[in-house]
Amino acid sequence: MAPRVVLGVSGGIAAYKACELLRRLTESGHDVQVVPTASALEFVGAPTWAALSGKPVSAQVWDQVHAVPHVSIGQAADLVVVAPATADLMAKAAHGLADDLLTNTLLTARCPVVFAPAMHTEMWEHPATQANVALLRSRGVLVIEPAEGRLTGADTGKGRLPEPAELFDVCVQVLARAAVDRAGVADLDGRHVLVSAGGTREFLDPVRFLGNRSSGRQGYALASAAVARGADVTVVAANVSLPDPAGVKVVRVTTTAQMRDEVVGRAAAADAVVMAAAPADFRPVTTSESKIKKASDGSAPSVELVQNPDILAEISRERGRSGQVIVGFAAETGDVERSVLDLARSKLTRKGCDLLVVNDVSGGAVFGSTENEAVILAADGAEIKVPHGTKGSVAHAIWDQVAARLGDDTNR
Ligand code: CTP
Repeated sequence: MAPRVVLGVSGGIAAYKACELLRRLTESGHDVQVVPTASALEFVGAPTWAALSGKPVSAQVWDQVHAVPHVSIGQAADLVVVAPATADLMAKAAHGLADDLLTNTLLTARCPVVFAPAMHTEMWEHPATQANVALLRSRGVLVIEPAEGRLTGADTGKGRLPEPAELFDVCVQVLARAAVDRAGVADLDGRHVLVSAGGTREFLDPVRFLGNRSSGRQGYALASAAVARGADVTVVAANVSLPDPAGVKVVRVTTTAQMRDEVVGRAAAADAVVMAAAPADFRPVTTSESKIKKASDGSAPSVELVQNPDILAEISRERGRSGQVIVGFAAETGDVERSVLDLARSKLTRKGCDLLVVNDVSGGAVFGSTENEAVILAADGAEIKVPHGTKGSVAHAIWDQVAARLGDDTNR
């Protein structure tokens, strides 16, 4: 049977973006019942929701009373997602008010509930809103952090609804996890996680750099998987050109030195750090301020390199708290004497991290691809084979191992 999703829409201008989320959900085979609030219908009318969902739409409890919709819609749902969730709607939900179909549905639903708030920065930051968000989270509701950027008017700040494609991604992940383990849906709730992603660049001159093929896909998949599991997620992203995952704070860097500063500065406050980035191991000793010109005699310049700091080794050595889990990645090809896993085991010891996700890159297939397969080696001796799958499924396999090892002495 198609998964049954209730799409709650409350009254904010971002209601128009929920049309795109609805479209993605229906086109991927979900059975979607839209439940707007009366004020949402001021922004996008019932005919739009009905046409896109293929179902009648009502904001109040007085239609189809014989079917008891104020109870039946919530009871039957596999997922309730409210996008956009206004400050008013969250206040009502936090306090159990039930004066329309959506708030009744929220009280009767026993499935995972996702809220994607959207409002002006002042409203989001107001202590009343923050207290309501904290209360909802404490009850297991997944409240996605709003994105930063352009708001309704000319102003910018935190409060934007994340892009519909990214919200869709969270919904799919929450549904998939709920199908496997309902109790464990938000097992990273209240945890702070830090993920590095992408490949750093080291500049020879203003236009040329040494770089690598990392796309940032695995790091971004880890970030969005952690959001779907309830974590507070920061990504330090080096030269990633993918859309920001929903609910994630993205800190942009270019070089390994910048990545080191951002990661080391934030690591102590994190319950888990996953170094999925490919920081360049070397940088030129000097960076020319002007573009390096070809020599007239046909000779080529030589580039002297110096080693960059090893971020993973440093945060593992200086780890800020007990119970913190630090994860590294290793892209290995093996050599004539040693297998991929032999080399990876010594790397795990050398770096001092708790888990090492090992990719066999002999064929170069992993770079830029949406799929991956891996073996996770643990410092406690465990060896977990992660079957071939999307970078999202590999991400969840990694968080499974992290969640199992997180101590209680954390930031929660
Ligand atoms: N890493 C890091 N800082 C660096 C280089 C790598 O934190 N300057 C991290 C990567 O994010 C990854 C892990 O270390 O999680 C493994 O990187 P890899 O390049 O395979 O390790 P190296 O120490 O460079 O080993 P090798 O000798 O195989 O190149």
